[in-house]
Amino acid sequence: MYCSSTPVVRRCLALGMSVVLALTPIGALRADMGPVRYLDPGRPVASRVDDLLARMSLDDKLGQMTQPERRHIEPDEVTRFRIGSVLSGGGSAPSPNNVRNWADMYDGFQRAALAAPLRVPILYGVDAVHGHNNVVGATIFPHNIGLGAARDPELVRRIGAATAEEMTGTGVDWNFAPCVCVARDDRWGRTYESFGEVPELPSSMTTIIDGLQGSALGRGPTSVLATAKHYVGDGGTAGGRDQGDVRLSEEDLRAVHLPPFREAVRRAVGSVMVSYSSWNGLKMHQNRYLITDVLKGELGFSGFVVSDYNGIDQIDGAPGFTRKEVAAAINAGIDMVMVPAEWRRFIERLRAAVEDGTVPMARIDDANRRILTKKFELGLFERPMADRRYLGTIGGAAHRALARRAVAASQVVLKNDDVLPLDEGDRIFVAGRGADDIGLQSGGWTVTWQGAPGATTPGTTILQGIREAAGGSATVTYARDGTGIDRSYDVAVAVVGEQPYAEYEGDRTDDLRLDDTDRETIGRLRAAGVPVVVVLVSGRPLNVTSELPGWDGFMASWLPGTEGAGVADVLFGDTDPSGRLPVTWPRSAAQEPINAGDGQRPLFPLGAGLGYD
Ligand code: BGC
Ligand code: BGC
Repeated sequence: MYCSSTPVVRRCLALGMSVVLALTPIGALRADMGPVRYLDPGRPVASRVDDLLARMSLDDKLGQMTQPERRHIEPDEVTRFRIGSVLSGGGSAPSPNNVRNWADMYDGFQRAALAAPLRVPILYGVDAVHGHNNVVGATIFPHNIGLGAARDPELVRRIGAATAEEMTGTGVDWNFAPCVCVARDDRWGRTYESFGEVPELPSSMTTIIDGLQGSALGRGPTSVLATAKHYVGDGGTAGGRDQGDVRLSEEDLRAVHLPPFREAVRRAVGSVMVSYSSWNGLKMHQNRYLITDVLKGELGFSGFVVSDYNGIDQIDGAPGFTRKEVAAAINAGIDMVMVPAEWRRFIERLRAAVEDGTVPMARIDDANRRILTKKFELGLFERPMADRRYLGTIGGAAHRALARRAVAASQVVLKNDDVLPLDEGDRIFVAGRGADDIGLQSGGWTVTWQGAPGATTPGTTILQGIREAAGGSATVTYARDGTGIDRSYDVAVAVVGEQPYAEYEGDRTDDLRLDDTDRETIGRLRAAGVPVVVVLVSGRPLNVTSELPGWDGFMASWLPGTEGAGVADVLFGDTDPSGRLPVTWPRSAAQEPINAGDGQRPLFPLGAGLGYD
């Protein structure tokens, strides 16, 4: 019988399921189906999946394919509806937002999943896109565009491994990262989620998948499931409009946007997320050719495909989703559907589509097989609960040191009229909105979805980094708006840039110029007759063409995250600048889209970046 043999009882206890056992009626365990092979970790994964699948009802299978958002589901509903996965959307966190509450929340949902008769653990998914960024106190690494500037695949692998450790402490086992988009138009609000504008850059940075998943899924205690997103063409939409339309021939789509996915699949990425965007007018969420034939067939992707957040709503252009949209998405090859709030309706509609034959049972079984395979491979059936031994790694010194190195490696010096590196003996005046602001230097997807200025999470601001690097005896004066500067200073550093944003809220249709406040600040510093270094904290190149001649130094910092000391390391020459532009820097927004090899004359080409020698 189910848990009667001693080894199985022991295993069940190890899973923390003793309470669960007492609550589960034996009849529900389907003991009639023979020995419970799927609970035996000694058996091959495929045979465990077969065994489990044979015990599952249609309800069980529909639940596996459903991913509600934590704010819209209670643990007991996870049990009742046999839910396969729960997510935290951007900034969706337990209150107060601290590491212990995250682990408790995760365990609460997991215990609920294990309380269902078949005890299939959930996957808990988050966007840990630059560290475990929804968690206050986590290490925030540079956004991908900075890592693309650093061009160091091994460093990026280590960032993946560090992120996986921080996730593991809270239990979270699934990361909706990396974004392997190829950003072709800097007006796109997600440009900073891209490692670069040519496919080679995102492809080479898929080492982050090795860091997140480990050498194989579940091989070590900190292996988490990675997601290559957004399949495919998200960075190639007309006008850089988020969720827009990609107007390209199949040949060009394959040449520019497909290669990073090919590489991610080669590295055995466990899941792939579909893009909100369309290809030549057809929503990716219904594109059977690209999802089933190309990704699963031609590329040989054996993991599972997840929709984007409410992505199935957009198929017919009308709000909400119909049975037809559900069927179109599942038949296109989507295996799990991110339906934050309307998950009950999703289950009903999918059931109806199966019952009327629109969605074949074989498709449902295939989706379940793919999802369950990853759960077994991850070792979730054996180790479902948060591994609190890793709580201490969250925001720990080792990870912050790694982040600081990544920040230093990502700085791109674009102009230097003998003003950099700064000298420890210099009298330094620091100004600008970005100088002393963790939230601003971290950007979107930091504690909240959009990110926010201010002291949103612990870290070192760029100003603090400068003060440390300058040493105790040096003079470092700070005034946000630059007032108070005079001729006595040797140099002024203006840290300016963009306010935090995420996704479509970051789309820009203006001239991509610095905002007025920033220009006024820089103007004040220049008026004092002191050499000015501009440090730009931004998710993309901005139009600085007319101002640049008046600056003595210019450095692109991207969105460095919590370790601002890495910026100072380069300013003071403790680290030689080695970052190179991962995107072409336009002269004006009118040049957008502008990319290497398109014949346009940029302000700085892809690959630009100075050293100090
Ligand atoms: C984004 C995805 C993200 C998902 C869950 C969507 O809006 O496009 O990148 O993974 O939300 O937060
Ligand atoms: C969620 C994000 C999600 C977005 C989709 C937000 O409310 O927090 O995770 O990406 O909605 O539009």
